[in-house]
Amino acid sequence: MKTLIVYYSRTQTTKRIAEMIQKELDCDIEEITDGNKYNGKLGFMKGGMNATMGRASDIDPITKNPSDYDLVIIGTPVWSSNMVPAIHTYLLKYNDQIKNMASFCTCMGGGYDKALDKIAEVSGKTQLSTMFLTSKEIENPQEKIKTFITKIE
Ligand SMILES: Cc1cc2nc3c(=O)[nH]c(=O)nc-3n(C[C@H](O)[C@H](O)[C@H](O)COP(=O)(O)O)c2cc1C
Repeated sequence: MKTLIVYYSRTQTTKRIAEMIQKELDCDIEEITDGNKYNGKLGFMKGGMNATMGRASDIDPITKNPSDYDLVIIGTPVWSSNMVPAIHTYLLKYNDQIKNMASFCTCMGGGYDKALDKIAEVSGKTQLSTMFLTSKEIENPQEKIKTFITKIE
């Protein structure tokens, strides 16, 4: 199965997990960026507000065409019990080009169920596999990643 991992990461946690999954699957990966508009304290507050409102935000151009892949794995930090605005935008823009989807999120400890539900709702796609990692789990994510991958292979 040709797989692409698409993720957003403000402080590199989701990036680290995305790269671990990439290593296991030996697949392509694309980081979604939005011009660092959520950096710093002000960015934190703006990010929380925009995620609460379910807002999308402008993203930088992508380099990988999702329609070239059998499966797209979406990775997002949880912001205010939601996916981040940049991932919301990615789904609004490219969902039609995605054949199959799986998703994961990283968080401090709450809101992951709502964030994953929102991805399924916005995409309208049954997720082949889902995973959340809390800050407690993030140091040793191997077992959860293995389970996550087993469902999509
Ligand atoms: C604006 C904002 C809102 C957040 N909201 C939540 C939340 O609702 N629940 C939670 O458990 N963590 C929340 N977090 C923490 C992040 O989800 C967590 O630190 C995540 O692992 C960061 O991923 P990253 O390093 O890839 O950016 C929030 C972080 C930010 C910046």
